[in-house]
Amino acid sequence: MVWLGPLLLLPNLFLASHVGAAVDLTLLADLRLVEPRRFFLTCVSGEAGPGRGADAWAPPLLLEKDDRIVRTPRPAQPPHLVRNGSRRITLRGFSQPSDLVGVFSCVGGAGRTRVLYVHNSPGAHLLPDKVTHTVNKGDTAVLAALVHKEKQTDVIWKSNGSYFYTLDWHEAQDGRFLLQLPNVQPPSSGIYSATYLEASPLGSAFFRLIVRGCGAGRWGPDCTKECPGCLHGGVCHDLDGECVCPPGFTGTRCEQACREGRFGQSCQEQCPGTSGCRGLTFCLPDPYGCSCGSGWRGHQCQEACTPGHFGADCRLQCQCQNGGTCDRFSGCVCPSGWHGMHCEKSALSDRGDGDASAKMQVTDQGHPGGASASQGAPAC
Ligand SMILES: *[C@@H]1O[C@H](CO)[C@@H](O)[C@H](O)[C@H]1NC(C)=O
Ligand SMILES: *[C@@H]1O[C@H](CO)[C@@H](O)[C@H](O)[C@H]1NC(C)=O
Repeated sequence: MVWLGPLLLLPNLFLASHVGAAVDLTLLADLRLVEPRRFFLTCVSGEAGPGRGADAWAPPLLLEKDDRIVRTPRPAQPPHLVRNGSRRITLRGFSQPSDLVGVFSCVGGAGRTRVLYVHNSPGAHLLPDKVTHTVNKGDTAVLAALVHKEKQTDVIWKSNGSYFYTLDWHEAQDGRFLLQLPNVQPPSSGIYSATYLEASPLGSAFFRLIVRGCGAGRWGPDCTKECPGCLHGGVCHDLDGECVCPPGFTGTRCEQACREGRFGQSCQEQCPGTSGCRGLTFCLPDPYGCSCGSGWRGHQCQEACTPGHFGADCRLQCQCQNGGTCDRFSGCVCPSGWHGMHCEKSALSDRGDGDASAKMQVTDQGHPGGASASQGAPAC
């Protein structure tokens, strides 16, 4: 009852306050826990911005399995929710492997933002190359189902649970079955799956395709506005032009790296456990989708980046100049006297700029956000 009034007000508040208020909502899972009884999903809502007071009226977080598209057998015992304060909720106590497979959603934050996570069985016949694919309107989307346990039958692709396309098993290319969708439009967004004919649906590869409502680098109702140039793999929101930053990065253009093991819009959250963000997948509001934490990659997010790579899913490449070294969480760490994303800026050229030298000292102490990016030059 307490929430009723605020809920009714929500749509108006949302319209009034949405611009400039990216929603800080993260749904995370530990992919190393393959045993259903130990597996859990946690949804974390960040601090409301100062003065917004969002937390005062925010209805509670919701976290549940969404059975509308991926249907699995009814669990013998349903998992249970554990609330920890108003900003954190955990779903645990699964009983069998099939209880984990499918779509989970967390709803929270301003405008009741929904964050989705798609869980694949680690023992499936086919595995997705990436669980979420974010593409721009007009792009060609390519979903790849990797053969994990071969079966000599056709592969059926479905979108949102309905038949879409068949590939003959001979059509595998380098152990992958590809679905190419040219010139995608937002209505092509949804859940896609690839299944061997006559195999259990639980052996499928499940994907989520997110199609931004505008072409690359554009946002707005007519797509006429230019995105701010999101760095470090941040994705420009097609409705408000804000960058949705990968886990482990912060700033209006995602220009700053968090300290290792931290995430959230202002790096306020700490990965649970003792191994940092190893093994965790992070799902953020659309159009970001899901990825490993910064410094990690692989199906279970437990492979460290190879030298020279950094960031979420290790998708970024260091290009350090002037003796900078590559840190897999933050990018280039510059020797004293240099700074900038590639250590391309010298302290000499900043003489008279007190602010810049102050930032350099912060960098030397390994303060959050120092390392690579305090000056935030565009990556591309
Ligand atoms: C609740 O969350 C806090 C902050 O992350 C954590 O330190 C604490 O252990 C959690 N409490 C429970 C009961 O899980
Ligand atoms: C899948 O369902 C979503 C949500 O209902 C819808 O927006 C989308 O257009 C659907 N996509 C396809 C390919 O049917």
